[in-house]
Amino acid sequence: MFGTVSMPMGCQAVASCLSLIFTLLLLHVLDVCLSHQAENGCPEDCACSESVDGGLVVRCSDMHLIAVPRDLPNTTRHLYLDNNLLLTIPSDAFIGLPLLFKLDLSRNRLAYLEPGAFQDLADSLSSLDLSSNQLETLDPKAFGDLRAQTNLSHNPWLCDCRLQLAMPQLLLDPSSFTEVVCNTSEPEALEAQGMPFILVATDLDFCTAIQRTTDVAMLITMFGWFTMVISYLVCYVKHNQEDAIRHLEYLKSLPNRQGRSEESLTLNTRL
Ligand SMILES: *[C@@H]1O[C@H](CO)[C@@H](O)[C@H](O)[C@H]1NC(C)=O
Ligand SMILES: *[C@@H]1O[C@H](CO)[C@@H](O)[C@H](O)[C@H]1NC(C)=O
Ligand SMILES: *[C@@H]1O[C@H](CO)[C@@H](O)[C@H](O)[C@H]1NC(C)=O
Repeated sequence: MFGTVSMPMGCQAVASCLSLIFTLLLLHVLDVCLSHQAENGCPEDCACSESVDGGLVVRCSDMHLIAVPRDLPNTTRHLYLDNNLLLTIPSDAFIGLPLLFKLDLSRNRLAYLEPGAFQDLADSLSSLDLSSNQLETLDPKAFGDLRAQTNLSHNPWLCDCRLQLAMPQLLLDPSSFTEVVCNTSEPEALEAQGMPFILVATDLDFCTAIQRTTDVAMLITMFGWFTMVISYLVCYVKHNQEDAIRHLEYLKSLPNRQGRSEESLTLNTRL
């Protein structure tokens, strides 16, 4: 009887022992996973590796990403976000990355960079690739005090006063200068299409060109008003002249008697 009782008890002990071991094993696996995540912290969809200059190389290229990953490790030094579907860079996209040195945003659909998009990278970033996007203009507020070499090639630039004012604030890669090609220009009459912005901007001043066209428009409007006023005056004088002549003729055609009485009347008034 004792034996029959002890057998299930032994089984129970073994079972609980096994389940304990299993739980411990599971916890260990989880722990390894979690500690790995904490130690590496690589965002989903990205591949991370140690960089030779310290920090991490984070590769998130060709991932159809529509937004910059939120959980980038704070030790990221090189960040590749090229060939994704990014439309814009929000102002808080690269916050808390004090080591970020190289940022590749080429071959996306960027048409707009929010004010402050790169301002937190001013101290660390040395290279920024914005080539092959949909940028038409630049807002200097997006860059803050950034001193990174910036590649702006292969974008449909709208060459105008705004771009002219924004451009000197950027440290363009010298070989990238001639790659900033105008797709359109404002004023359109400058015919800068297909020309490197730098070449056009050395010959022409987009800002004074705008000033000049508004000046010309103003001059034309003023001239229009002036001619209208003059022609009105001419008309008025002509009309009155005709009236005056008609009146004179009417007076001449009057009988002499009335003329005499008029003469006596003037005499009387003189007296
Ligand atoms: C990254 O974050 C950890 C934990 O918050 C902190 O200890 C470490 O100093 C940070 N590294 C950098 C480079 O800021
Ligand atoms: C800028 O980007 C374009 C297109 O990706 C590339 O062909 C060019 O070599 C780059 N320029 C520099 C100076 O890196
Ligand atoms: C270049 O400008 C034309 C209008 O002049 C526009 O239709 C075209 O979409 C622009 N190209 C790009 C790549 O945006």
